[in-house]
Amino acid sequence: MHVPRLHVPRLHVPQLPSGLAEIADVGRDHRRGGYSRHLWQAADLELRSWFVERAERLGLDVETDRNGNLWAWWGQPGTDAVVTGSHLDSVPGGGAYDGPLGVVSALEAIGRLQASGFVSTKPCAIVMFAEEEGSRFGVACLGSRLLTGAIDADQARALTDHDGVTLADAARQVGVDPAHLGIDRDALARIGLFIELHVEQGRGLIDLGQPVAVASSILAHGRWRLTVTGQGNHAGATTMGERRDPMVATARAIVGVQAAALSLPGTRATIGRIEAIPGGTNVIASSVHTWLDARAETDQETRLLVADIDARAQQAAQQNGCSATLTEESWAGAVQFHPGLRERFARALGQLPELPTGAGHDAGVLAAQVPSAMLFVRNPTGISHAPEEFAETADCAAGVDALELLLRELLSERPL
Ligand code: GLV
Ligand code: MN
Ligand code: MN
Repeated sequence: MHVPRLHVPRLHVPQLPSGLAEIADVGRDHRRGGYSRHLWQAADLELRSWFVERAERLGLDVETDRNGNLWAWWGQPGTDAVVTGSHLDSVPGGGAYDGPLGVVSALEAIGRLQASGFVSTKPCAIVMFAEEEGSRFGVACLGSRLLTGAIDADQARALTDHDGVTLADAARQVGVDPAHLGIDRDALARIGLFIELHVEQGRGLIDLGQPVAVASSILAHGRWRLTVTGQGNHAGATTMGERRDPMVATARAIVGVQAAALSLPGTRATIGRIEAIPGGTNVIASSVHTWLDARAETDQETRLLVADIDARAQQAAQQNGCSATLTEESWAGAVQFHPGLRERFARALGQLPELPTGAGHDAGVLAAQVPSAMLFVRNPTGISHAPEEFAETADCAAGVDALELLLRELLSERPL
């Protein structure tokens, strides 16, 4: 039997920074290419053990909070803590850097501070947020949304993965009590400020010829499920004129998604996932689910874009005798990072460039509650959420240098 070969993009890992090299084999996805590391599944559990082991090697005390986020404390946990970190989960078939770079850079920076004999005057922690990509349960930044109360706990408990497993059941299976999921005022009250270092996911630093930048803002963004319903039927016995085919309506709706975003300059809209029900080659589908990711500079513009996409999807459905519903699954308003922190960063690090980003981050969720900031490390491929995502070792080292310097300043009583 001839088995077609899938095109699997090559993972871009010629020379990983040491922390990333340690986890280079965890969660490799040989079918899609890259990594698939999803909440509380085998790779994620292995990465959590690795994180605990790595943090304990630095003498940090690791705790899991009520939402499955990991906190590694340098010194006694307490208020006004300087917190840094990121996430270890990935999109399906993702790269090696999105998330893990921030975690390994935090471990490296604290290791360096310790080795230099630095004595902190404040509590400091590295956090590893759960399900940042929303790849298993559909809501991005789930761990930080639960922590901050940005998602209702009942709504979160009822989320289901591709196999129909609820978040509540998945939590129970790994020893997290689902009854305790939700806003964690004690954990929140301890955070004085949060810094997330992240690989850049666009071309800003390539164009500027610089290794590191400070984040200025995040686009408003959200996810919606588009369900187009028609009539399931026989692929051979149903004439073309008789059909109410939701796949054809969906195809037209997808073209409408592109047209809507192109008609509102600067906006972005993507359908990256599709599921036909029941999904047989000789079966006209009865319904088709697709997932829309839409982003724009302001909340209002994003809402306008989605309303236009909805109108186009309704029209496409009607033209094919189908119906369409667009349901919001998650929403994140536009974020401006803390001006005071950005100013402090500029004073400590010199004139680093500032860059906006179209990608969502836990730092964006936390920004609604605590001063938050981000550092970006240049990605010479300009590609992210794909195996080609990359950062040169020298640029990763420049990122750690910047983070170490900031932690040194922020953990000293000395004002900047
Ligand atoms: C997360 O990386 C997102 O922007 O979707
Ligand atoms: Mn990502
Ligand atoms: Mn990320």
